[in-house]
Parts: sequence; structure tokens; C-alpha cells
Amino acid sequence: MSSDPVERTLDDVARRLSDAERILFVTGAGLSADSGLPTYRGVGGLYEDRDTDDGVPIEVALSGSMFAIRPDLTWRYLWEIGASCAGAEPNDAHGFIARLTRERPESWVLTQNVDGLHRRADTRNLVELHGHAFDLLCSRCGREQDTAGLINGYSGAPPDLPPRCECGGVVRPDVVLFEEALPAKAVEALDRLESMRFDVVLAVGTSAMFGYVVRPITRASAAGVPTVEINPGTTDLTNFVRFRLPVPASEAARRLAARLWPE
Ligand code: OAD
Repeated sequence: MSSDPVERTLDDVARRLSDAERILFVTGAGLSADSGLPTYRGVGGLYEDRDTDDGVPIEVALSGSMFAIRPDLTWRYLWEIGASCAGAEPNDAHGFIARLTRERPESWVLTQNVDGLHRRADTRNLVELHGHAFDLLCSRCGREQDTAGLINGYSGAPPDLPPRCECGGVVRPDVVLFEEALPAKAVEALDRLESMRFDVVLAVGTSAMFGYVVRPITRASAAGVPTVEINPGTTDLTNFVRFRLPVPASEAARRLAARLWPE
């Protein structure tokens, strides 16, 4: 047996995953950190200790109330996020999770990420709680917009922001801004997941700031279901989970994959 505690935990977690039919992954910005995307908080947090160039915290710049009065300002940061997502590729952790959802079809992924990298990795049973940065709609008439046509898929120089619909309304990405409630489809998905039983639950790369993200993990833990946190930093979940892997998500994924699917 290895004397390295991370190696021992990897062995344990790999065994649980290999026996599991139903796995729940709860993912956050840290999962995409190894694809070069910044996180909001914690390790690699872009705005951890500083305001935006507009002199307000990122949570204010990206809030529903700011969007209502200064959509140009909110869009400056929406564009930054969209442009970094447009240039990013799924990493080994997205691939690992996607493969498990394909091999164990009763597994689910609950993500807070709006970057679309889970989709691009061909993940099944995906719930995008906070929406998807590449789906655009008009905030006045609700019409869906062509992201490639209207804003060139977030590539090149930013167009005049905010983009506008034919009706003159301000266009926005179909994402949850700060202060906004979760959309009905996300609430329904959370209710559905609550009625399911999982064999293992993993939190990957999230600071677990929201009750609806914490609950699936604490509920599983209370029911005796093995829980895992993959995060180089610590969070409020750290003391709840049974297994802790304090390493970057893509590294954990590669080391787990080598155990689950040896060449
Ligand atoms: P956060 O930025 O709050 O947290 C990212 C977490 O990932 C931190 O705990 C980091 O320590 C960890 N991390 C950093 N690098 C990592 C790596 N390579 N591998 C694994 N973990 C790593 O991101 P979220 O928890 O996703 O919501 O934030 C939740 C929500 O906060 C976002 O969806 C967004 C924001 O408010 C909305 O926009 C509504």
C-alpha cells in the first residue's frame, strides 16, 4: 500500500467509481481552470482581491440590476467570459466525466459552468444550472439570436456592446446573472435529481457558494453515500466529504482514469 495519502485516496475513489452504476458530478469553474479559464474565487480566482476596471466588484458588474441600467458595462465582462470560453478546449477532467456518463447512463452532471465545455466533451445527462454563454436571447421580445451572426461567436474584436435585437431590445446570453433567480428548468432539474439515489457523489472545482450546490453533497453524505471533493483549495464542503483529493481536476482525472481503464 502506498504511503502517499493522495495515492491511497485515488485507489479508494477509483474502486467506488468502478463499482458505481449512478454517479453524480457537481462541477464548477475550477473544472475548466485547466482549460485556461479563470475561476471566480479560490485558487486562480480572477477577481479574488480586486475590483473590475470599472471600479465595481465582478458580482456587481455581472448582476441583473447592473444589466438593467448599464448593459454596456455588464456586457464588457460577459464578452471577456465568452471570449475566453470560445478559445478553450475541454480538458482531461471534462473527458473523464463525459466518458463515465456514457458508460454509466444513470449518471448525471450538475454544472454551474456556462462555458459549454461539458457539452463539447459529449457529456450525457447534463444540467447547466446557470445556462450557457453561447445561447443568446433578446431581453425584450425573448427571441433567440444567432450567436455567430450577431457577435461572431465571441471572437475577434468586440462589436458595439450591448448587441441589439431587430426589435431594438438588448440581447443577453441565456445565463443566470448575480441576484437573478434560477430559471424554472434548472429548479425542475434540481427537484428531479433530489429524487434520485446515487452510489457516489463528487464535487469538482467548485467553491460551493450556493445552497442548491451544497445540498446534493450534504444529503448524500447524510445518507451514507461516499462523497468526494476534487479541489486544490478548501471549501465549506471539505469537512463534509468522505474523500478529499487536493489536486487539480485534470490531474485527478488522469490518475483516476489510469486506475479505471488501464491500457
Ligand atoms: P468559484 O470560482 O467560486 O470556485 C472555483 C473553485 O475551483 C475554487 O474552490 C478553487 O479552489 C477551485 N479550483 C481552482 N483551480 C482548480 C483546478 N485546477 N481543479 C479543481 N479545482 C480548482 O467557481 P464556482 O464554484 O463554479 O455564478 O462558482 C459558482 C458560481 O459563482 C458561478 O457559476 C458563477 C459565480 O457566481 C453565476 O454567475 C450565477
